[in-house]
Amino acid sequence: MIFESELGETREVDTFGRWHYANGKVILFGEHAVVYGVEAIAAAMPNAVRACIASRSGIDADVSRLTIPSWGVDIHLNAERADSEGAESLLINMCLLIVRELDVGHDQDDRHFHLKIESELPPASGMGASAAIAVASIKALSEYFGRTLTLEQINTLALRCEEIAHGTPSGLDNTLATYGGVLRFKKMEGGMPSVFEPIALARPLTLLVTHSGKKGYTAETVARVRRNKEQFPEKHLALFARVADISARGRAALEVGDESLFAVLLNENQQCLRELGVSCDEIERVLTIAVCAGAEGVKLTGSGDGGALIIAPGRAVDAVQTKLRDEGLMCFQLNIGGCS
Ligand code: PMV
Repeated sequence: MIFESELGETREVDTFGRWHYANGKVILFGEHAVVYGVEAIAAAMPNAVRACIASRSGIDADVSRLTIPSWGVDIHLNAERADSEGAESLLINMCLLIVRELDVGHDQDDRHFHLKIESELPPASGMGASAAIAVASIKALSEYFGRTLTLEQINTLALRCEEIAHGTPSGLDNTLATYGGVLRFKKMEGGMPSVFEPIALARPLTLLVTHSGKKGYTAETVARVRRNKEQFPEKHLALFARVADISARGRAALEVGDESLFAVLLNENQQCLRELGVSCDEIERVLTIAVCAGAEGVKLTGSGDGGALIIAPGRAVDAVQTKLRDEGLMCFQLNIGGCS
């Protein structure tokens, strides 16, 4: 018989069903401004997170369990622990919300599961990990509870999970996690559903994704921008108007395949993000390394103050990738707009 150690105990290993997938994302243009109704452009990182599920068995089978091995997460989904501080309580609350929504008509204490998540995305990286975990979990749990959800229902429930994680999310991350592709996305006012649409790129585009080495906390950064906007409304409205213009020109550049303009617009968007106060020394250091190695355009992606950067490397794909890796930074290629 196979055994493993969990939470200091030894028990039988659960038998898992099939994997359910969700996408990560990079925001090409418009983070933060998208929260205030500016159209953003974002691209999925396909199937970066997956979830599978098993019915509990063994000696502690009277409680559900969530594991994310690559994040070192191994927790019991107890309602009593949902009030504790930190990332674990966010995950617990997210799972409890999903179960409440899906396990309608049953006694929830009856059915215990082990939800296992594999994530290629680091936490607090600006790559949409929390939304992807929500979507993959919803897919796995809906099958487990015998429910069939439309993509729209998955997306709506994932947005509620994002509200637990981030407070006032635009809805962009869960939309990319659910639908994938390269999308234009606009949050609507007054509780209206967001609108989004795939963008047809004239030709596939190779980007590089790297990391500043510092964690970026979305809820904090979004709240900081909100406070600053309340204090300096005109400055922020002017910045968001600039981002709206960049985002519109960025979409057009993708649609006609103008890679040089695309790279210039990344740099312009990064300048707006600096003026918004969401860049940081760690981001600027990595940006400088990439530019010195020949990158044409670089910006932070996601909420900033840490987290990931996206790079339009121009002809210097290999040189930029090698230089960043020589500096000990993770760096991978993301090909967008292909027929995946
Ligand atoms: O850091 P991430 O991956 O959660 O991205 C946040 C993007 C923001 O525009 C800053 C917030 C949002 O909800 O769109």
